[in-house]
Amino acid sequence: MCGIIARIGADDGVDRLLGGLERLEYRGYDSAGIAVENGVGLAVQKCSGQVNELKESVSDSGIYGGIGIGHTRWSTHGPPTDDNAHPHTDSSGDVAVVHNGVIDNHAELREELKAEGREFTSDTDTEVIPHLFERHLEDHAPEEAFREAVRDLDGSYAIAAMVEGEDAVFAARRGSPLVLGVGDGEYFLASDVPAFLEHTDEVVYFEDDEVGVIRPDDVELSTLAGEPVERSSEIVSWDPEETGKGGYDHFMRKEIETQNTSLTNAIQGRIDDEGEEPDLDDFPAGTFEGVERVQFVACGTSFHAAKYGAQLLNKAGVAAQAFRASEYDDAIPVDSDTLVVAVTQSGETADTLGALDRATAGRARTVAVTNVVGSSAAREADDALFIRAGPEIGVAATKTFSSQVVALSLLAHRISADAAGDSPWDDPRAYYDELKRLPDHVQTVLDREIAEGVADDYLGSDAFFFIGRGLAYPVAIEGALKFKEITYEHAEGFAAGELKHGPLALVTPQTPIFTVVTGGEDETTVTNAQEAQTRGAPIVAVSPADHRITDVADAHLPIPDTHPDLAGLLANVQLQLLSYHTADSLGRSIDKPRNLAKSVTVE
Ligand code: F6R
Repeated sequence: MCGIIARIGADDGVDRLLGGLERLEYRGYDSAGIAVENGVGLAVQKCSGQVNELKESVSDSGIYGGIGIGHTRWSTHGPPTDDNAHPHTDSSGDVAVVHNGVIDNHAELREELKAEGREFTSDTDTEVIPHLFERHLEDHAPEEAFREAVRDLDGSYAIAAMVEGEDAVFAARRGSPLVLGVGDGEYFLASDVPAFLEHTDEVVYFEDDEVGVIRPDDVELSTLAGEPVERSSEIVSWDPEETGKGGYDHFMRKEIETQNTSLTNAIQGRIDDEGEEPDLDDFPAGTFEGVERVQFVACGTSFHAAKYGAQLLNKAGVAAQAFRASEYDDAIPVDSDTLVVAVTQSGETADTLGALDRATAGRARTVAVTNVVGSSAAREADDALFIRAGPEIGVAATKTFSSQVVALSLLAHRISADAAGDSPWDDPRAYYDELKRLPDHVQTVLDREIAEGVADDYLGSDAFFFIGRGLAYPVAIEGALKFKEITYEHAEGFAAGELKHGPLALVTPQTPIFTVVTGGEDETTVTNAQEAQTRGAPIVAVSPADHRITDVADAHLPIPDTHPDLAGLLANVQLQLLSYHTADSLGRSIDKPRNLAKSVTVE
C-alpha cells in the first residue's frame, strides 16, 4: 500500500528521499513523487509508474533541498495518473502533502473547499488536506494551521506536509503507520523502518492522534489537542543488510533460503533444555489461566498460520477457532473469558486491526503475534509475541509464515498447559527436540533442489490444486495462495476430503494435485488423491520419503522425517520453492506481483 518517506536535514536530501522510495517499493504502488523545499520555493516532481521513472525526471529537473517528503501511491480514489500521484498541493502551490489512509469525509470537504474557490486537480481524497491547510494558514501560524486541518478530517491517515518558507515537516497519524527515524544531524519519517534503516536504527513511533513538527535540529511531539508528548527513542534490532537482496535474484528467493536463520531466531531462548513447557518471557506459566476459548483473527497467509495454531490448540483440548479478520463481525460471541490472538506479519493490516478493536470492545483479552515491534497491532493488543523473522520485503509472505507457525505452536503449548494445569501433550519433549532441529531440516529441503524440476514438469497445466487434511490443510491452502499470487496461474487449495464433494468435477490430466501428507492423520488423504488420479490427474506427493503416498504418486517433493506437528512447515518450504520456480520460468514479477501490496492498510 502507499508508503511515506520524509527527510529533514540541512544538506541536500533528494537522494535519501529517492532511496527511501525504493525501499518502500515492496509495499506495492503504481505512482510516486517527491516535494522539496530549496529555499526558493516548493518543488514537486511526481508521475505514474515506477520510482525509476521518477528518478529520471528528478535528475532532469535538477531539484534539490534538505527538507522533503515523498510517496509511493497504491490507488484507491482515482486511477494511477500523474495528477493523482502524491504530493498534492494547495491552489497556490505553497503547501505540499503526502498521505496514507482514507479520508472518509473527503467528498463534503471537497464541496466546501471548492465553494471557497479552491481549485482541485486530482480525483484523490488526499487533495482536501493541502487545501484545508491553506485555508487555516489564513488565520493561524503553520503548526496550529496544520493541527486545525487535521482536526477537520474523519478517517485514517498518516500525513507528512510542508509549507513554503518553513524549515519543517508537519506530521500526524491516526490508524496508519508512521515512524520517526533519528539520524546523525537529520531526521526521517516513514511508513515503516526499512525505508530509512540504512541511515539510522533509532526510532520513535507515533501514536494515534499525535502531531509532530520536525526541523533539522529539533522534533516536537504533541497531541492533536496540543498537549506536549514526551517519548524516548528506541533501537530496532533489524540489520540493514536484511533489507538488501544479498546476492539473490529476488527478495522472495532470499527469504525462502534464509529460513533456517529466521527460524533459529524464532526459537532462540524460548525452549527450555529439559522442561516440558515453552519458555516465553512475557508469558510465564499461568498467564492464560481462566481462558475458555481462543479466537484467532488474521488475513491471507497469516490466516493460514492462525488456522495451524487453532488446530494445534484443538488437538490439546482447547476450544479454538481461526476467523478471517474481515469476517470477524459483531455477531461473533466474545467475552472476558475469550482470548483473541491477532496474527499479522506487518501489524498494520486494517482488517486485522478492525477485528482487534471488535475483540477489545467485547472485553476479550488480546495478544498480537507479529513481526514488527512498534506496529499498531503490537501496541493495541494487551500483549505481543514477536516472531523475530526480520524484515520481509517480497510481497509474498514466506519466512514469516514459518516463523508465525513456530511462535503460535509455542503459544499453543503455553495456553494449553495453563488451561489444563499441566502440559496436555503426549510427549512435549519430543516436540521441543524436533523444534530445535527444524532449521536444519529446512536446510535439508533447501539443499535438495527438487522443486525446480517438478515446477518445469507441470508448467503449462490448466490449473493447480493443493490438498491436505488436518495440519496439512492450512499448508495446502497456503501453497495455493502462494502459487496464484506470484505465478498468476489458477490455483486452489482444498481439504482433501472435500474433493469428492464438488472440486473433482474440475480434475483432468491437466490439473496436477499437490498432495500434502505429514505423517499425521492422513491415510485417507492417499485415498482422496487416488480418487483424483483415477480421473487422470497427476499426483505430486509432498511428504516424508517413506510415506505410502510415494508408492502411488507421479512425482515427489520429499521432506525430512520430523514430528507430525512440524512436518507441515517443511512441506510448505517445498511448496514455496515450487511457486517460486514456476513464477520464475513464467517471467513473473516475483517480488511485486501485480495488483498486490505488502501491507494492506485499507479495509
Ligand atoms: C500473501 C500475503 C498476504 C498477507 C496478508 C496479511 O503472501 O502476504 O496474504 O499475509 O495481507 O498481512 P499481515 O500478515 O501483514 O497482516
